Amino acid sequence: MKKRILSGMRPTGKLHLGHLVGALDNWVGLQKEYDCFFMVADWHALMSEYENTAALQESAIDNVIDWLAAGIDPEQSTLFIQSQVPGHLELYMIFSCLTPLGWLERCPTYKEQLREIKTRNLNTYGFLGYPVLQAADILIYKADKVPVGEDQLPHLELTREISRRFNTLYKKETFPEPEALLTRMPRLLGLDSRKMSKSYNNTINLSDSQEVIRQKIASMITDPQRIKLSDPGHPEICNVFSYYSFFLPELTGEVSDWCTNAKIGCTECKKRMAEGLIKKLAPFHDRRREFVKDEKKVVKILEQGKEKALSVASKTLKEVKEIMDLPV
Ligand code: TRP
Repeated sequence: MKKRILSGMRPTGKLHLGHLVGALDNWVGLQKEYDCFFMVADWHALMSEYENTAALQESAIDNVIDWLAAGIDPEQSTLFIQSQVPGHLELYMIFSCLTPLGWLERCPTYKEQLREIKTRNLNTYGFLGYPVLQAADILIYKADKVPVGEDQLPHLELTREISRRFNTLYKKETFPEPEALLTRMPRLLGLDSRKMSKSYNNTINLSDSQEVIRQKIASMITDPQRIKLSDPGHPEICNVFSYYSFFLPELTGEVSDWCTNAKIGCTECKKRMAEGLIKKLAPFHDRRREFVKDEKKVVKILEQGKEKALSVASKTLKEVKEIMDLPV
């Protein structure tokens, strides 16, 4: 029996290169070894985007198209939309009853987001419970591993605490204690060398056309100390060089030579990187176009994923209700 994985992404907009190298490539690589469940976390998105819900559905399908184009294989993995499996909410409600308020109020991601995010009102009952729903997502499938970035570790810790609390309260080893599978990738920075994020408007989206990719890369900031063409550059501090390391690692030796010995200028270096990146992304873009043309196929994949997720989820819920002496 393969061990099980569950992971999810909130459908809050278009996916970008940061998602590809930070999460999707990793997901793709896990499919052989694990029984993978990959979920569009639209209820989690709702918890912060409840004032502006117009784009959620469209983003959900668009994100799944990116997953498929990246190589997530519906024959091997289960792809589904969280809100199509209502059992998540039932387990979330049950977990809410036994989760102490202090665990949630102390959660570092909660405190940080309340402090940092000023564009939305997150001072709500629902947002406090965000990690409880995440625990339900993971535990309803009894997942062994959860591939996530470092920012999600507090939620994984809470998931384990909720699992232990349930098992102790009802005196039965019902839920596992899932572990994080950390993606230890260095972060891909945005066009302006800050973190790549939609809110900074510095992303290269997976759906961007070749022309847009060329324009965006031309606008990238390079080594600020290299002003004239004849100035030797510093690849180790240049964001364009880090893109070479991510996407064209076979060229880094050569690029380093161009740069430190001032053999070609930054404009030319970026042009070559753009062309190399476009070539590398070509198979992704080809598959993406196919799925965009055939959205029915994507809907069908999600339909099948839903059925599979529903059957596992309902089995867990039945077990939970029996253990708790609730009507099944
Ligand atoms: N909170 C996660 C994020 O923002 C998304 C998510 C929701 C998730 N449910 C999950 C991730 C379950 C892993 C497992 O990235």
